[in-house]
Amino acid sequence: MNRVPLRLAIAEAERMLADAGVASPRFDAETLAAQVVGVERGRLMMHPLVDPPVVEELRRLVARRATREPLQHILGTAVLGPVTVAVGPGVFTPRPETELLLEWGLRVLRDVRAPVVVDLCTGSAALALAVAVSRPDAVVHAVEADPTALTWARRNIDAHGGVVALHSADVRWNDLLVELEARVDLVLCNPPYVPDGTPLPPEVASFDPPGAVFGGPDGMEIIRAVVSASAGLLRHGGHLAIEHDDTHGETVPALLRRRRVLSDVQEHHDLAGRPRFATARRVPATP
Ligand SMILES: C[S@@+](CC[C@H](N)C(=O)[O-])C[C@H]1O[C@@H](n2cnc3c(N)ncnc32)[C@H](O)[C@@H]1O
Repeated sequence: MNRVPLRLAIAEAERMLADAGVASPRFDAETLAAQVVGVERGRLMMHPLVDPPVVEELRRLVARRATREPLQHILGTAVLGPVTVAVGPGVFTPRPETELLLEWGLRVLRDVRAPVVVDLCTGSAALALAVAVSRPDAVVHAVEADPTALTWARRNIDAHGGVVALHSADVRWNDLLVELEARVDLVLCNPPYVPDGTPLPPEVASFDPPGAVFGGPDGMEIIRAVVSASAGLLRHGGHLAIEHDDTHGETVPALLRRRRVLSDVQEHHDLAGRPRFATARRVPATP
């Protein structure tokens, strides 16, 4: 069997993905090659020659990616901070930008011992698990309404030793997590926030569940419910962070400022300078 130079197979894959309009063809071609060869991406050059069946398998995966199936669905996993979660049809694929929310949340918890944390709209449970893994002393709760997403969340939480309490609930419920009322140190939320009808790339439009992406005509439907629920859940001095659409850089902070029980409202930008998430704090108790 004539062995094939791996770099030629990767170059062919990169061309196919570029032609299909994939945003990061080199990265995706190398990542799929690493999956097929069974090594980390950075170690591909240690395998200059591969057998023809390896090339065939790479072509098969590249053909799937060329249909704009998300890379993470093909790999079966997505990474958020310190955790890798299983993802696939019916659950939202965690995005790198949500790591900003995670980092901010971990920062505000630095001086809080055994914090109580709630992740609203948890999807795969990636964010809740990332907090639980980073802060083993935390008690982390995760809320999700969609039955298929709940199945993925359950699977991921079990794979991490059950370190998160999963609740099948709707953030619009009046009595959401009433047992945690005024006890929560940190609420994190990456909700569906895209205004209905917004055109989206095929990876999102065809593979993320619509209920995980769209947030009503103005994109704010679930965010409004999350602000109300959080105002009741947070203890005095507790923190809240909500990821939002880049068109909501003024709307979400304004919504937070309207709540008398919330203070210290701030808007945060991503690395590209786009408005990405807003934070607030439950006003501290008056002495
Ligand atoms: C943008 S995804 C975020 C998932 C996860 N937090 C992440 O960052 O990967 C939003 C999630 O909210 C869930 N969701 C939508 N409406 C909800 C509601 N009313 N109550 C609870 N969860 C909801 C969706 O099913 C979806 O899993």
